[in-house]
Amino acid sequence: VFHTPEEVPDDATPDCAIAIDVLRATSTMAAALDAGAEAIQVFSDINELMHVSEHWPADKRLRAGERGGARVDGCDLGNSPLDHSPAHSAGRRLFMSTTNGTRCLQRIQHAPMVITAALTTRQAVVTFLERQRPHTVWLVGSGWEGSYSLEDTVCAGAILHGMMAATQANCKDLAGNDAAVAAVSLYLHWQDRLLELMHYANHGQRLLRLNNDTDLKYCAQVDILDIVPIQIEPGVLVQQPQ
Ligand code: MLT
Repeated sequence: VFHTPEEVPDDATPDCAIAIDVLRATSTMAAALDAGAEAIQVFSDINELMHVSEHWPADKRLRAGERGGARVDGCDLGNSPLDHSPAHSAGRRLFMSTTNGTRCLQRIQHAPMVITAALTTRQAVVTFLERQRPHTVWLVGSGWEGSYSLEDTVCAGAILHGMMAATQANCKDLAGNDAAVAAVSLYLHWQDRLLELMHYANHGQRLLRLNNDTDLKYCAQVDILDIVPIQIEPGVLVQQPQ
């Protein structure tokens, strides 16, 4: 478990790298694919997003830009998972740039297998890992501008806990991996009060100040989507075929 993309080492590569941004980028990616979006293409730079998406048919694209929790001027959408419905998103490509989540994905995009995870897709991710059996897995929280975030760490803990239940492992099997033990402990403490935890989180507070409490409620839900966004080329994700 890495709490932020900045912690990811330059000189190692896992078999599978998982980007987590519960509030809200990876929750939104799963919601968009669930609503039938054709693919998601991520950018760290908004100008590049605008430039690349210009070459895409206007009725087949959605431009989503977020900075500091708010929508970027000129984009169709901000970064709310609740923006996505089949009527709005089906068959379209989501061109997306967010403060931390898309940067996290770019940091790990060279791993041989890259997926995203959120609380909403926790069981789908656990099932995916059980089937694929990667030897080394990195769970990478997006955090907030280089700092640790509660919501990403609790999600990493939820996924690890699911994996441990499936393999009948326990905390002893994580010995020596302090970040993993801490993530599972955080999840075990808060598993029945995830929305409350999000209210205490730094970015949760920022979103509440921006009147995004419905997003917090949505993102705190566990296992509501059977979706695993998977990277098919650097920066482009689709729904993992069932
Ligand atoms: C991010 O990438 O930092 C976020 O997803 C921020 C947000 O829109 O809530």
